[in-house]
Amino acid sequence: MHKVLVVDDDKVLQDSVRQALEYHHFFVEVADNGKEALNKVTQEKYDLVVMDVNMPEMDGIEALQHMKKYDPSLIVIILTAFSNVSDAVKVVKEGAYNYLEKPITSENLVALIKRALKARSLVETTIFSAPSLSLGKGTDDQFVGESDVMQKVFSIISKLAQVNTPVLIRGESGTGKELVAKAIHFNGPRKDEKFVTINLAAVPDNLIESELFGHEKGAFTGASERKIGKFQYADGGTIFLDEIGDISPTMQVKLLRVLQEKTFTPIGSNRDVKVDVRVIAASHKPFEKMIEEGTFREDLFYRLNVLPVYLPPLRERTADIPFLVDYYVDYFNNIHNLEIKGPTSDAAETLKGYAWPGNIRELRNVIEHAFIIESGDFINISSLPDTLRKSSASLDEARESEGLIDIKGIKDSVFDDESKVVQDGAYKFTFATKGEDNQIVMDFQEAKEQFEMEFIVHALKLNKGKINQTALKANIPKKTLLRKIEKYSINPKSFY
Ligand SMILES: Nc1ncnc2c1ncn2[C@@H]1O[C@H](COP(=O)(O)OP(=O)(O)OP(=O)(O)O)[C@@H](O)[C@H]1O
Ligand SMILES: [Mg+2]
Repeated sequence: MHKVLVVDDDKVLQDSVRQALEYHHFFVEVADNGKEALNKVTQEKYDLVVMDVNMPEMDGIEALQHMKKYDPSLIVIILTAFSNVSDAVKVVKEGAYNYLEKPITSENLVALIKRALKARSLVETTIFSAPSLSLGKGTDDQFVGESDVMQKVFSIISKLAQVNTPVLIRGESGTGKELVAKAIHFNGPRKDEKFVTINLAAVPDNLIESELFGHEKGAFTGASERKIGKFQYADGGTIFLDEIGDISPTMQVKLLRVLQEKTFTPIGSNRDVKVDVRVIAASHKPFEKMIEEGTFREDLFYRLNVLPVYLPPLRERTADIPFLVDYYVDYFNNIHNLEIKGPTSDAAETLKGYAWPGNIRELRNVIEHAFIIESGDFINISSLPDTLRKSSASLDEARESEGLIDIKGIKDSVFDDESKVVQDGAYKFTFATKGEDNQIVMDFQEAKEQFEMEFIVHALKLNKGKINQTALKANIPKKTLLRKIEKYSINPKSFY
């Protein structure tokens, strides 16, 4: 519930505004003049102040100035008798959100208050949104990642973008390795130069050398024209060697030479070519094992691995799932000209609980699949592929059969009159998990954090992501709430 302070020396007006706001479920307190109002504001947290101008003791303008000095985020709406533009401008300049001319109607006032609160919650939530990384001109693609691990990856990317050292990006298929490569290129000094990609797993072995380094006319059968290789083409820019774990030992030697000497020899040529190309490589292969088995050169690996980036699989950064889902819902709404609002809470749970072996690529496909099937406003669980639905059912079974404790009973008392949250099954909580040796593992700190996070997510859900309302209703000091939201990478916007 939003807390509003109504300030007016006219008791009749004060009372009618109070009634109107209470009718619209605001929690209202009153003050008779500016001084009293200022006192209240410095002692308690209000979401919004509705204040008259002409009052004894301290007028509305002076009170406004003090209030904004004390709490710049406080929203103040001024009620005025003046229809004088310059006074109105002054009020807004002093930091009032807006003003209403008397006589006011409750509809106008409530509409203005709602608009103000909405605007502020948008400002509040953008503080938590991720830094945006460019992925190149002409693309609207975004790099989504609000979890702590991804935020770390983003800050590594920003640093890597500024230097010329080779980068090796590792991670399972579909985790976004190519996106990282683009982000490094397009956020650094080479961004206006070429970004050239070659997928080394897709080019036949006998053609890789010519693709990378080019050939002279007649260098081999079929080489009817001279051809420039990708390294030369990328001169000044970046070459992205995707699936580098797949190349033959001969090619490994040749790549090592480019990395060491920035020089190569086109096939059939007797002249070396020198280039200035930044190398970014990627692979999901287990290099350490390949080095041990002798299939990947250790020296090449160390050359590439100067600045490694590891992209964790999606199942290890589940905090990102709702953001990615939102992102792709927006994305496909745009493409298909639809207005799907997002997943139902059941579907959201299933999406979050799934292990995503194909990572973000799979998530994207699942959302696109749902767009094709879904005819309603929301993505229902029935529009998700069988694999997801089955796996979420078996996850629940696994939890039960492992004898994990569900605190459903306990948490009922937490939410008391809001037991709806519990009923939709979203509120799952485990005290213990099973370790490798099949022993029950309990960790107080971990369990406490898990509880805290789930509590906050559900409190936010209930209050549609509104920070002040959540703080008030769930009895969490607002500062604590904001800190936890950041700590657990929760996006309040996703609950609007
Ligand atoms: N963090 C992210 N935010 C938004 N989209 C993402 C993110 N990560 C990956 N994607 C999208 O997921 C898909 C797969 O990403 P990408 O091709 O970069 O993965 P990859 O690791 O190179 O996979 P592979 O090893 O299979 O080549 C792409 O459509 C990409 O745009
Ligand atoms: Mg790739």
